[in-house]
Amino acid sequence: MSDAGSIKVLAVCGSLRKASYNMAALRVAIAQKPAGMTVEVADISQIPPYNEDVRQQGFPPTVETLRRQIAAADALLFACPEYNYSMSGVLKNAIDWASRPPDQPFAGKPCAIIGAAAGMAGSARAQYDLRRSCVFLDMHPLNKPEVLIGQAQTKFDAEGNLTDEAARGFIRDLMANLAGWARLHRKR
Ligand SMILES: Cc1cc2nc3c(=O)[nH]c(=O)nc-3n(C[C@H](O)[C@H](O)[C@H](O)COP(=O)(O)O)c2cc1C
Repeated sequence: MSDAGSIKVLAVCGSLRKASYNMAALRVAIAQKPAGMTVEVADISQIPPYNEDVRQQGFPPTVETLRRQIAAADALLFACPEYNYSMSGVLKNAIDWASRPPDQPFAGKPCAIIGAAAGMAGSARAQYDLRRSCVFLDMHPLNKPEVLIGQAQTKFDAEGNLTDEAARGFIRDLMANLAGWARLHRKR
């Protein structure tokens, strides 16, 4: 955990694609973070597929790192793509690995979710599946604003800049609310 004034956020992006809209949205979130917040982006690209036999011999180093980063964060920020109406396998796999005992690191963590998708719903279905996992993992997901960037291919330019001002505003509000939400949970 960070010192009293500052909020340390760990961001996890569920897309590994170089030109990912979700990563681009995450960059917008980081650019609009409120004063006193730091955001680190986790590297989940090298996490192997979950295998209980492997876990019983110990967490792979990439998972150890992720678990340490989660434990040290005041809050989490997920960028959640939608694959076949749910979260991406890459994101679910990282969550599954990090969630295994001992010391389940997600428990009690405030978190927020943003997402961009090609479809009209802007990853809503995937985000609601992620929220369901948050319940099981005893996280505290921020309710509002929802950041659902639908038809993402029309909302970012060729360089990955977000051109939709409404979406930019929702992301800014979410980051401000996440700071307040994290402080609230720290007082408990
Ligand atoms: C396997 C797969 C399944 C997809 N399923 C959906 C879907 O259910 N809903 C949707 O809106 N877009 C779907 N898409 C399109 C993604 O929204 C689009 O590829 C988007 O760019 C992925 O996020 P990214 O840009 O961060 O990589 C799917 C894409 C892939 C590769």
